[in-house]
Amino acid sequence: SRPSEAASNLVLVGPMGAGKSSIGRSLADRFGLRLADVDHAIESRAGASVNRIFESEGEAGFRERERVALAELLSGDGLVLATGGGAVLDAGNRALLRQRGFVVHLHASVEQQLRRLAHDRTRPLLARGDREQVLHDLARVREPLYSQVAHLRFDTNGHSEAEAAERLAQLL
Ligand code: S3P
Repeated sequence: SRPSEAASNLVLVGPMGAGKSSIGRSLADRFGLRLADVDHAIESRAGASVNRIFESEGEAGFRERERVALAELLSGDGLVLATGGGAVLDAGNRALLRQRGFVVHLHASVEQQLRRLAHDRTRPLLARGDREQVLHDLARVREPLYSQVAHLRFDTNGHSEAEAAERLAQLL
């Protein structure tokens, strides 16, 4: 039986540029579930972009909004939830994700992330310095947290998002 059958939601965690939103879209279509993207939920509730929220409220303000959005979305069932890369920083979020979902860590190398994010201007953390260095620094802190929270680790390196979704769906 699919491991996800026991859990109410399928939760995708992992770094920026791992393909959480696009792989989430494919999985949701395939399994007939709803896709919820936490960043989009935050933006529509705030009426402002993630960049704008970081500017006006700081990262702390964004994290608070993220915590609220996660709790709201995970009060329901039947979602594929694409989280933001920093959602796992908060211990309460980690507990909630595991409790309310089957958690998949989408792993991507820094090289892969750089390729996928090459033209991106929507991630404020990438503007903080040299992109490669920023991604390495984030990974050092966060990889242990992704491992801690995930029920399954899935390596997306070397695959298109469509291929990755196809292979991951076979495992679920
Ligand atoms: C962040 C990742 C972003 C978004 C915000 C902060 C992070 O989401 O939540 O820019 O801390 O890694 P994605 O992982 O969808 O890019």
